[in-house]
Parts: sequence; C-alpha cells; structure tokens
Amino acid sequence: MAATPAGRAVRRLVVLVSGSGTNLQALLDEIERTGAEEYGARVVAVGADRSGVEGLARAERAGLPTFVCRVRDHATRAEWDAALAAHVAAYEPDLVISAGFMKIVGKEFLARFGGRTVNTHPALLPSFPGAHGVRDALAYGARVTGCTVHFVDDGVDTGPVIAQGVVEIRDGDDESALHERIKEVERRLLVEAVGRIARNGHRIEGRKVIIP
Ligand code: GRF
Repeated sequence: MAATPAGRAVRRLVVLVSGSGTNLQALLDEIERTGAEEYGARVVAVGADRSGVEGLARAERAGLPTFVCRVRDHATRAEWDAALAAHVAAYEPDLVISAGFMKIVGKEFLARFGGRTVNTHPALLPSFPGAHGVRDALAYGARVTGCTVHFVDDGVDTGPVIAQGVVEIRDGDDESALHERIKEVERRLLVEAVGRIARNGHRIEGRKVIIP
C-alpha cells in the first residue's frame, strides 16, 4: 500500500458501475484535484456487470484497468457472485464502491468485502429501497427525497447509513429531472464520505457508522 509523506496509507478503491458512471467520475475528479495522498484513496480498477457502458469508458479514458462480470455468463447467481468477488479481490481493495451498480451481491462477495463495500442509493433510506427509488418517491407523492450512502449488507439497501442528503420534490418533476438533481447531491456526498472513511477509518456498531 502506498503511503503519504505523513505516513498515512492511500486506500485502494475498486469501483463497480452499471451505467453512466458520473459518481465514478466525481471520485476520479476529486482524486485528480486533491491528489491521492491528500484524498486518502485512489481508484485501482473499475468493474461492471455489463459491457459497453459509459462508466467503463470513463475508466478507460482515465487509464484504469476494467473488468466485466455478467450474470448471464455464469450457470448460477452464486457462481456469478463468486466470480465477481474474485475479480474484485485481484485488485486487493481496501474499500469497494458500488456507484450505480445495479446488482445485489451475494454471500461470497459479502464474506470477503462485507463491512467495506459502500453503496449509493437515490432515496432517503429506509424509504424507497430497490431499483426504482426515484420513481417510487415520486409515485408516493413524497415532498422530499434524496440520497443515502451506506454500507452494503445482505439485504436490499438495508445496510448501516454513512451519510444522507435531502432533495425537494418540485411540482411537475418527472423521474429524470428529479434524478438529475438527486445525483448532484449524491456525487458530493459519495466523494465526501469515501474520503472521510479512507482518511480516518471507520467502525460499525450495530446500525451506527462511526468515522473518528
Ligand atoms: C445513481 O443515482 C445511483 O444511486 C443509482 O443510479 C445512479 C447511477 O448514476 N443506483 P451514475 O452511473 O453514477 O451516473
């Protein structure tokens, strides 16, 4: 592990994506802006559950190694999960960042990376978990929603909360307009939370995440 002049470790991040990768880009931009030593972490690889997505193209443009691990290339979901864990493990990450990764990881993955996999979700958990957090908040008629950065556990968006940001729902919002405003907050929140964890470490006590 590389170290800063002050002797602090630079944490290794593997980022998982499924789509446009703007959260990944926000991490890359901040690390570029501050320097990995100052930020406390660097991205060592980017993985996806599908090929051809902009998130992977962003990684390639940044000169990062990438990998694709598709469910349909494996006989069972458990085999896919073990293969994903092996891909990620090859880069020896300190933290795994699920940044718009649209798959639920399984037992093997959590056995290796549980307690150090961070996810970002576009709603204020525990409200509106699952794949359609933005659509569901709108359909419910909620007046505020937002985003949640949390550790991944074995449920769907149920792990301990690291940080949350609030976004007002405006009259006339549609899913895409609302999601864009949520993502502006989400990117800042993720960059800030990952940096704090990388620099200070963390512990999880029950449902509480403590970052000293
Ligand atoms: C984010 O809002 C994430 O929470 C959701 O999908 C979006 C991913 O955006 N699951 P991007 O790929 O980082 O641009």
